[in-house]
Amino acid sequence: MATYAEIHARSLKDPEGFWGEVAGGIDWTRKWDRVLDAARAPFYRWFAGGELNTCWNALDRHVEGGRADQAALIYDSPVTGTIRSYSFRELRDRVAHFAGALAALGVGKGDRVILYMPMVPEAAVAMLACARLGAVHSVVFGGFAANELAVRIDDCTPKVIVSASCGIEVQKIIPYKPLLDGAIKLARHKPAHCVILQRPMQACEMIPGRDVDWQEAEAKAKPAGCTPVAATDPLYILYTSGTTGQPKGVVRDNGGHAVALNYTMKAIYGVDPGEVYWAASDVGWVVGHSYIVYAPLLAGCTTILFEGKPVGTPDAGVFWRVIAQHGVKALFTAPTAFRAIKRDDPNGLLIKQHDLSGFKTLFLAGERSDPDTLKWAETHLKVPVIDHWWQTETGWSIAANCMGIDAGNGKPFPVKHGSPTKAAPGWDVRALGPDGRAVNPREIGALCCKLPLPPGTFPTLWKADERFRKAYLDEYPGYYKTGDAGFLDEDDYVYVMTRVDDVINVAGHRLSTGAMEEVLAAHPDVAECAVIGVADELKGQVPLGFLVLKAGVNRPHAEIVGETVAMVRERIGPVAFFKLAIVVKRLPKTRSGKILRGTMQKIADSQTFKQPATIDDPAILDEIAGSLKGAGYAKAGLKAAAN
Ligand code: COA
Ligand code: AMP
Repeated sequence: MATYAEIHARSLKDPEGFWGEVAGGIDWTRKWDRVLDAARAPFYRWFAGGELNTCWNALDRHVEGGRADQAALIYDSPVTGTIRSYSFRELRDRVAHFAGALAALGVGKGDRVILYMPMVPEAAVAMLACARLGAVHSVVFGGFAANELAVRIDDCTPKVIVSASCGIEVQKIIPYKPLLDGAIKLARHKPAHCVILQRPMQACEMIPGRDVDWQEAEAKAKPAGCTPVAATDPLYILYTSGTTGQPKGVVRDNGGHAVALNYTMKAIYGVDPGEVYWAASDVGWVVGHSYIVYAPLLAGCTTILFEGKPVGTPDAGVFWRVIAQHGVKALFTAPTAFRAIKRDDPNGLLIKQHDLSGFKTLFLAGERSDPDTLKWAETHLKVPVIDHWWQTETGWSIAANCMGIDAGNGKPFPVKHGSPTKAAPGWDVRALGPDGRAVNPREIGALCCKLPLPPGTFPTLWKADERFRKAYLDEYPGYYKTGDAGFLDEDDYVYVMTRVDDVINVAGHRLSTGAMEEVLAAHPDVAECAVIGVADELKGQVPLGFLVLKAGVNRPHAEIVGETVAMVRERIGPVAFFKLAIVVKRLPKTRSGKILRGTMQKIADSQTFKQPATIDDPAILDEIAGSLKGAGYAKAGLKAAAN
């Protein structure tokens, strides 16, 4: 068996040979002309000329190939007390009918469909139904507010929106329909129809003529077949936080995506067809797209769709119950979920109540894995805990300890805490200095990946080639800039330390502080503002706002702060978790007027920092530290932080 070193070297030296072979794992209705088309570099295309259908590869081929009665998807919902298993045949049939229902509403190849759904099987059914028709889905996470949904409606102009009457957050029922109606009202583009899944916990009013009942539509639809699409045609658009309130529409194609994701199930996760795999995330995030829906199904595995939380549904033992009950071999979740479990069950007593003998590996991603949480998981679960690094843009791991690849001694690589191990096959990761050259081992640089990126990543942003180029490619010619800073050690282990932009990571959710600042700035009493991410024991980071009020405003500060908190919830959504803002007299800035957010964050977290040489007035840092102390931050004080 080839070793990691051989596989990785070949994937970079001969990407066409390597991925051309891997592509044999997928059914094609027309073979590609070229594995890698570099004619429009830096806009690379994989499997140009090839045709396939992603839904066929995820469902039909398994039905025909002997897995018809194997469980494809298990819906486990502690919040509704439901467990329901769908075989590959049942799931294919539901998807085919729902695809027929969408087709009857006029949805066809290339049309966009927005999905605004809670964690119900119908979310996966709708995604796969779009794929079946060659339509392009765009899933919007349920925790975003109407305004965020409206922005996405206007950007991708969907023909149809698929939604549900409500979601359930632990014990709270969240009505989705008012948010959907509100978003459509705000948006300039109006979808022709909305298909609404009425859930029994809370039904909703329908708008005659526009709204269609899911169950009725599915029941009367004729099943639709799979429409072949070009490998380079888009499968989905997934919006992610950019540096402004305008999110970036990450585009995923059909061919490269199917090839790469199918490959990763064994190579990275060590999971074989027929085994059970669980990504405890949400279909609204990239992890949900790649590892709840597409990759496990493409590979003929059973996937778990979990409607619950790591704690509180009903307790911190729910993950172990699900693993034992469904025979899960590998679990993928965010470190924040483990911090929540550890907080509620510090000695892992609930783990001991379940038979976890079939559970082999825990995978963590979405944020930096803190060594304490990692060690706690290792100690109590007694399985390898594998940190891996990736992004919405990349669709799968940039760096991972590949469980299905021999490191050279018949085993994976030894784990080094704090590192997602080495570049995955197809990835050439470098830490670059400001001059664009690789820095020395252990020196921090901008983490960049040499172009072309492997298949399954993003060829561009939706209708925004220039933004794609500017945001990701221009600064380091020939490389993709990940937006993360970090280093490689002497063994080529990658260490991801921090973001270089204004993205923060709140409970594994990626958010833009710039977008929050846009909301705060719209408050009539706010003259200037800044938002930073401060360390939080459970969520990793939480946003904290600074408000400078307009001259003459003398209303109580608590009132103004309360209004800004409500505004962020209203415009971005509860997922932003914006709960705290501080009124300050002024903000620290450089002489050229740039707000020193990084310095403020270091003061808040009591970290060491260098007083910026270009600071306009150093005394402001004392004022900021004083305000932060008053709010329970900057515990070590400014002097300690500066040391
Ligand atoms: N629909 C509507 N509202 C939602 C929502 C959804 N799909 N998801 C979250 N929210 C709301 C919550 O109800 C909460 O609102 P509140 O302020 O009114 O209480 C807010 O958004 C924040 O939710 P959350 O981030 O889930 O925080 P929490 O305190 O409820 O739970 C954790 C904390 C750690 C248990 C939880 O964040 C978690 O499970 N994180 C894992 C994240 C993950 O899987 N990320 C994917 C990357 S792998
Ligand atoms: P998202 O696009 O939501 O998946 O968020 C991607 C960002 O999350 C990355 O750019 C990193 O900042 C962070 N991230 C994801 N995985 C890891 C990891 N394993 N270690 C450190 N940071 C991570």
